[in-house]
Amino acid sequence: MADAKRIQRDLEALRDFSAPGGEGTTRLSYTPAFRKAADYVLEQMRACALEAREDGVGNLYGLRRGLDPAAPKILSGSHLDTVRCSGYFDGQAGIVCALEVARMLEENGVRLRRGFEAVATVMEEGARFKNLGGSKLAMGVWGEAELDGMQDDDGITLREALRAYGLSGNLACVCRRDEPVRAFLEVHMEQGSRLEREGIDLGVVEKIFGCRWFTLTVKGVTAHPSTPMDQRRDAALASVSLISHMARITAEQYAGRATLTVGRMSLYPGEINAIPSRAVFSMDFRSGQESCFEELDGILERECRRTEQEYGVQAQCELYTYTPPTPCAREIVTALEAAAEKSGSSALRMDSGAGHDAMIFALGWPVGMLFLPSRRGLTHCKEEWTDYENVARGADALYKAVLALDRE
Ligand code: GLV
Ligand code: MN
Ligand code: MN
Repeated sequence: MADAKRIQRDLEALRDFSAPGGEGTTRLSYTPAFRKAADYVLEQMRACALEAREDGVGNLYGLRRGLDPAAPKILSGSHLDTVRCSGYFDGQAGIVCALEVARMLEENGVRLRRGFEAVATVMEEGARFKNLGGSKLAMGVWGEAELDGMQDDDGITLREALRAYGLSGNLACVCRRDEPVRAFLEVHMEQGSRLEREGIDLGVVEKIFGCRWFTLTVKGVTAHPSTPMDQRRDAALASVSLISHMARITAEQYAGRATLTVGRMSLYPGEINAIPSRAVFSMDFRSGQESCFEELDGILERECRRTEQEYGVQAQCELYTYTPPTPCAREIVTALEAAAEKSGSSALRMDSGAGHDAMIFALGWPVGMLFLPSRRGLTHCKEEWTDYENVARGADALYKAVLALDRE
């Protein structure tokens, strides 16, 4: 059985590898806090006899070799980075479950036919560079162009960040897409409240919702606050109008089908006593249906033009990233469901509203996800919580799934 105490120890250790200041855990990729967390994970991998390595971009792998080197491997894990002021379960619980499975295999003296590999990725959250970066590099979706072309908010390129962190940025052994892999299994907290509400132990994910991010720039004219209201070209007012129209349309016409979030916004020049000449903000759309994204693209375009007319501004909309809705592999869903049952947990098939590395690994490999209940559905905040016993249930089901997939 998985040991909830060990799981607690790992999660609490990871919680404390955080940038100073602010609430909760903040661990952006390639920062000193990330380095400490990565070293901790590598150490834990070695402690349970995994062959641990860090690739040229900071993804971590710990391999337990199988008896048959030609048999496609089973990989399991999640991301080690967090958003700012986060909890310490999102991503981290999946890494800790994979470590716990490796410990159980070692303690029980299990020799698998397939290799089993614990995985901890970088750059999943998009809090520093674009999202899902570690898995995109691992699957060859990103390459040299992204290392030089992508910058964080301070203008540091991804390649510079890698170098400053002590990594080569050599992509030679980073892409693993052509490796034979039987399954990538990701345990993750639900980030919704359905499991808790229905009193179910585990979720088995059938589909992961797509995620479409835009950067919007609204340009007006700076002037003094005494300027009469009808003589302004106010980038802030125009942006607020655009956002509230888009939010109303999404809520009314796409209820249960799509969501919209504006999580970042900057105003220039940023003075109390200056009408802003420029507003730059993010728009995050989520949906399980590609057709919703297509329709919302058209609506956003239309609303930009309306805003321009009404406020005398210019509104530009640039696609920042898009990851389409992604189904999990059917046979892995079935295997995870059976494993949950075998380990004595109740399970429910469900969709994931959040994005995950599994979406990118699905480009080359069969993927499956197990969800753990999230208290009150809260996530990306310091209140994020899953009981350690529930994480242990996830590790037990993962262990059974690994054994079952190994026997095929
Ligand atoms: C990851 O947490 C995401 O869905 O943004
Ligand atoms: Mn997250
Ligand atoms: Mn996550």
